[in-house]
Amino acid sequence: MSERILVTGAAGYLGSILCQHLLEAGYKVTGLDNLTYGQAYLFHLGANPSFNFINGDARDTELMQELLKDVDVIIPLAAIVGASACKRDPQLTKSVNLESIQLLNRLRSPHQLIIYPNTNSGYGTKSGDSYCTEDSPLEPISLYGQTKVQAEVELLNSPNAIALRLATVFGLSPRMRLDLLVNHFVYTAVTDGYLVIFEKDFKRNYIHIRDVADCMIYCIQNPQKMVGRPYNLGLDSANLSKEQLALKVKEYVPNFYIHFAAIGSDPDKRNYIVSNQRLREAGFEAKRSLDDGIQELIKGYRMLGRGLFKNV
Ligand SMILES: NC(=O)c1ccc[n+]([C@@H]2O[C@H](COP(=O)([O-])OP(=O)(O)OC[C@H]3O[C@@H](n4cnc5c(N)ncnc54)[C@H](O)[C@@H]3O)[C@@H](O)[C@H]2O)c1
Repeated sequence: MSERILVTGAAGYLGSILCQHLLEAGYKVTGLDNLTYGQAYLFHLGANPSFNFINGDARDTELMQELLKDVDVIIPLAAIVGASACKRDPQLTKSVNLESIQLLNRLRSPHQLIIYPNTNSGYGTKSGDSYCTEDSPLEPISLYGQTKVQAEVELLNSPNAIALRLATVFGLSPRMRLDLLVNHFVYTAVTDGYLVIFEKDFKRNYIHIRDVADCMIYCIQNPQKMVGRPYNLGLDSANLSKEQLALKVKEYVPNFYIHFAAIGSDPDKRNYIVSNQRLREAGFEAKRSLDDGIQELIKGYRMLGRGLFKNV
């Protein structure tokens, strides 16, 4: 059985939840992160003797060589995440999102399983009417999408790799991300009470953060039937346009005022719906609904109190 897991980007939005799920499932976890966004996101795991943390850079050859000596599975989450962050520093983006993955792939033994989190934003502009499968072409527009897709291609051309093409993730995490669509809509609904939406009919697909963690554990436990292929990971019940998503949030925040205006455009022109059939056939199905996530987010944002720089 695979027992020792290396998670890079462990202190991130996904990493801080994934490490918790891995530990709860009985794995030994080494988390690596250069702490781009702060330091305390993994404090809740510090007391667990099966958890170790390294403050370091996923591009550091010597460090990665050392860390790879003791692991069965690698989950490389470290990345510059999102089109805007990548646009700010293209060189950094290429070196972290692509070159650090190439480095890992060179250094690992073929016996070490790698589970790679791609984004499904590479499906890009479609009509929004027919389902994208893993055989639909990935045509990313942003540098973020391009580096993620190229890394997936290289990994899947190597032995013992599984790629998960994640829908837009939602849900609470110690290292919260408000730039993700569901998290953002709910935050705006409960704080500002109004939202201006552009490209309202553009459809996207969503997945709960803890279902992503559970799916990665499923991959660790069922590699033989999964390696060598990409799998869409989203909720079949949540292929929704931005307008439909906002109306779903309004079911829980009735005073939410929604306005539509052409005030922006998505760098990846995302308008697609996704089939998760292949993953279902491999035996995994996400179980946390969008409704669950919205209620969880509302509860979490209540914990933020009145917020910084506000008296009301
Ligand atoms: N959240 C989503 O909706 C989503 C969807 C698809 C794919 N993904 C992928 O999942 C992974 C995690 O995303 P996230 O949402 O947790 O983002 P995040 O920005 O919260 O986490 C990324 C982490 O990587 C770390 N990092 C960055 N550069 C590093 C480096 N050089 N060395 C070590 N650590 C470094 C950061 O400090 C951060 O903690 C990424 O690979 C992302 O592309 C996320």
